[in-house]
Amino acid sequence: MQAKTPEQSKTTMTDMVLPGETNPLNNLFGGELLARMDRAASIAARRHSRRIVVTASVNHVAFNKAVPLGSVVTVEAKVSRAFKTSMEVFIDVWIEDRESGEKSKANEAIYTFVAVDDTGRPISVPEVHPQTDLEKERFDAALRRKQLSLLLAGKITPNKATELKALFE
Ligand SMILES: CC(C)(COP(=O)(O)OP(=O)(O)OC[C@H]1O[C@@H](n2cnc3c(N)ncnc32)[C@H](O)[C@@H]1OP(=O)(O)O)[C@@H](O)C(=O)NCCC(=O)NCCS
Repeated sequence: MQAKTPEQSKTTMTDMVLPGETNPLNNLFGGELLARMDRAASIAARRHSRRIVVTASVNHVAFNKAVPLGSVVTVEAKVSRAFKTSMEVFIDVWIEDRESGEKSKANEAIYTFVAVDDTGRPISVPEVHPQTDLEKERFDAALRRKQLSLLLAGKITPNKATELKALFE
C-alpha cells in the first residue's frame, strides 16, 4: 500500500451559519459543528484509505471561539497519522471576516476513524508521510493521543501507554 501525504486527504468544507443551527446566544450550536467536523473528517479518512470508514472516537474538541449567526465557516480536515487500521484526523475550523475576507482560527478537533470492510471488520490503511513542520508535529504526537484515547476507553492498561507515560517522567 502506497503511503500518502496529509495533503492528499485534505478536505475543505465551507458553509454558512443559518438561524436553525444556533443556540439562544445566536452562535453556532456545538452539536452542529461536531457534525460538520465529522463529515469533513470522514471524507478525509475515506480519501486516505479509499475504504468505508467509521468514527471510532472523538479525542479532542476545543470550542475556543463562538461562531456567530451568518458566519462563513470553513472546516479543514487532514489525516495526520495512520496506524494499522485507524487514522487520526486533525480538523481546523476557520471563520471569515465579512469585510476583509481574512480567516481566523475558531476551533479545532481530533477524531479517530477506522477503515472497515463490507462486513464492518477493521482493515489495513496506507501510512502517512507528513511534509510540513506542522504535519510532522501532529504526526509525532498522534501516538500519545491514540494511547490516551484507548486508555480512557478502557481498551489498554496504563503500562501499555509507553509514549504517553514518558511525558510525565
Ligand atoms: C471502531 C470499531 C470498528 C473498532 O472495532 P474494534 O473491535 O475495537 O477493533 P480493534 O480493537 O481491532 O480496533 C481497530 C482500531 O481502532 C482503534 N480504536 C478502537 N477504539 C479506539 C478508541 N476509542 N480510540 C482510538 N482508537 C481506537 C484500535 O486501536 C485499532 O487501531 P489500529 O488497528 O490502527 O491499531 C468498532 O468499535 C465499531 O464499529 N464501532 C462503531 C463505529 C460507528 O458506528 N461510528 C459511528 C458512531 S454513531
